[in-house]
Amino acid sequence: MRKIAITTVAIAGVALMALSGCSSRGTDASSSGSAAGFKAGSVIGVALPDKTSENWVLAGKLFTDDLTKAGFKADVQYAPSANTASEQAAQISTMNTKGAKVIIIGAFDGKQLGSQVKAAHDNGAVVIAYDRLIQDTKDVDYYIAYDNEKVGELQGQALLDGMKARFPDATNYNIELFSGASTDPNAAVFFNGAMKILQPKIDDGTLKVVSGQTAIAQTQTTGWLAANAQTRMDTLLAGNYSGTVLNGVLSPNDTLARAIITSIHAAGKDTPVQPVVTGQDSEAASIPLIMSGVQYSTINKDTTKLVAQAVEMVKQLASGKKATTNADATDNGSVKVPTYYLPPELVTKDNAAQSYASNPTLLALVNK
Ligand code: BGC
Repeated sequence: MRKIAITTVAIAGVALMALSGCSSRGTDASSSGSAAGFKAGSVIGVALPDKTSENWVLAGKLFTDDLTKAGFKADVQYAPSANTASEQAAQISTMNTKGAKVIIIGAFDGKQLGSQVKAAHDNGAVVIAYDRLIQDTKDVDYYIAYDNEKVGELQGQALLDGMKARFPDATNYNIELFSGASTDPNAAVFFNGAMKILQPKIDDGTLKVVSGQTAIAQTQTTGWLAANAQTRMDTLLAGNYSGTVLNGVLSPNDTLARAIITSIHAAGKDTPVQPVVTGQDSEAASIPLIMSGVQYSTINKDTTKLVAQAVEMVKQLASGKKATTNADATDNGSVKVPTYYLPPELVTKDNAAQSYASNPTLLALVNK
């Protein structure tokens, strides 16, 4: 329903703009424009963050393959060191120097790329924010991602549904909350999406965050690193759960879910009933855990489809067109960025086979 409504609005909007002679980018995001298009063989820069989950590893390979197949020169870089933000900024500057026509950015730190994307615009390049929004700058032309707020909502609902199923006699539940890296704008979007579902249940007493740590700043996981989530979970369990049952944990992704599960197991809190732990990304290492009930859920955000759509945008821009968008523009704190959203899907062991039907690798893990 939601998708249909958005599409209708988008079509109506385009028709209106055509009548009034406006560009569909209008006054939204500032751009050097791509009306002229660009040639086969042009450099397309892809700046990805550090490899904090499988989806980022896969994205680099897919961008290289798909852009090359489409006839472009792909310049795909990761920002892998401790100085990730400044490394990524330097990589984008080099892409500018090479004359990249489009720069696709999965930001390490969504707030620290203002001068690099401005330079890209000054050079006539189009800037696409990939998966993570680039914030507080007008120099971003498009945003393409899975609907991240929806991801959070699905996680919050999965936590509730999973606890109801696993603890049928309970009327209230003890939980803990985790979020991702504060540098990643998605972390807050996931968390706030989940809290839309969970907060009313905390307020009415159905849920109790036993540690009392409900503010996002208290729940963050620096660098999205598993070790940091595991240490925090160890501390939470040691300090709050002696003689107390843990029913569930909101985990923003699979990497952190597995770390949290390790901590729960070490503390012996997985018996008699395994607490519900959510996740995201459909990582290969989490699929067997989902099938055996050790991890309750994940989210299917097929990277192949996201990269394919981003490359489709590049092709449209190359031919002098605007890139297709299908959702409401996303406010990045400075402008509304034209947005393309793909729909995320919740996966539990009940629908895993169906959700991964077109992914032989994951399907094999489901059927193992
Ligand atoms: C992505 C998630 C991923 C996380 C850590 C986020 O920006 O949207 O899919 O789990 O980064 O890599």
